Amino acid sequence: MYAVQVTSQDPKDPLAGLTITQDAPERAGNIPDNWVRVAVQNASLNHHDLWSLRGLGLPADRLPMTLGTDAAGVTDAGDAVIVHTVINAPGWVGDQTLDPQRTLLSEKYPGTLADYVWVPPQNLVARPKELEAPAAGCLSTAYLTAYRMLFKVGQLRPGQAVLIQGASGGVATAATILGRAAGLSVFVTSRSEAKREKAIELGAHDAFETGARLPQQVDAVVETVGEATWKHSLRSVKPGGKIVVAGATTGQSPDPELNRVFFRSLSILGTTMGTRTELEELVDFLVTTGVRPVIDSIWNKDEAPQALSYLASGDAFGKVVLGF
Ligand SMILES: NC(=O)c1ccc[n+]([C@@H]2O[C@H](COP(=O)([O-])OP(=O)(O)OC[C@H]3O[C@@H](n4cnc5c(N)ncnc54)[C@H](OP(=O)(O)O)[C@@H]3O)[C@@H](O)[C@H]2O)c1
Repeated sequence: MYAVQVTSQDPKDPLAGLTITQDAPERAGNIPDNWVRVAVQNASLNHHDLWSLRGLGLPADRLPMTLGTDAAGVTDAGDAVIVHTVINAPGWVGDQTLDPQRTLLSEKYPGTLADYVWVPPQNLVARPKELEAPAAGCLSTAYLTAYRMLFKVGQLRPGQAVLIQGASGGVATAATILGRAAGLSVFVTSRSEAKREKAIELGAHDAFETGARLPQQVDAVVETVGEATWKHSLRSVKPGGKIVVAGATTGQSPDPELNRVFFRSLSILGTTMGTRTELEELVDFLVTTGVRPVIDSIWNKDEAPQALSYLASGDAFGKVVLGF
């Protein structure tokens, strides 16, 4: 079958190790017997795919590995589904993101950028007919992460204010759309004026240059940028507020400024991905509100190298999606 694979890794030239094959085995040898086959309809790309190509989070002894962590598709039984990409160790009970042995599709088992992906039956979420497959194929990673950051870990309620750092990122655009639809006051930062304007089109109430002082302090910060925005995050949150962290694109060792953390009673909360139940809630949220992921572009599966290169360029605003 067709698959987009990592066959070698290079931190400086990630796309050099990308291989498109028509001959990937439909079912890799390590897939457990009870897993279910899903014919992929749409799968969006994530920076996770580029990290795998760079050699981060994917050990070289697992190559070749099929990329992809998001997908909407159809099971052999004809059910339209969305794939929950967090794979747990056998027997794990409870919040799937807390399993120390969890992996994402494409880390231990083949990912979603292929004609077919195999997943545990409990990792399937029904796709309602109101939610089109390209939109549904954007949810499992960035949107699920943003949903959990805002509403589960951040515990934000309508009328509260949130700062979203790095407006153009996948998680950040998702948080902007979801936060606005949920009745939050949404502030964003970006280094680029064009991206700030786009964030306002998406629903942000106001957009600021990275590091600029906000007109008010916020209840919580959505932080995925890391070192470059950490100091600003600490200064932008109210006493007693929360900084919810799900990434550190620009570096993971900022000055923690512990005096500010304890003196202002700040909570710094880490989170990664989301649970299957949260993915179901996110689907319900989209159906109820009518909001949809912003899609930058949809590419044919054969254009996967160009689509990944476009994602790597940083020019995309919204999700880059493949159609199968
Ligand atoms: N934990 C999880 O579950 C999870 C899920 C998905 C992603 N992530 C992580 O979250 C992070 C964000 O990923 P992403 O795909 O959403 O976005 P991303 O493309 O990695 O970047 C996020 C934003 O960072 C800003 N940025 C980059 N360099 C900067 C700099 N030097 N100074 C200031 N801002 C800078 C950019 O904003 P502007 O260009 O607008 O300034 C960019 O849009 C990644 O580290 C990723 O691994 C985590």
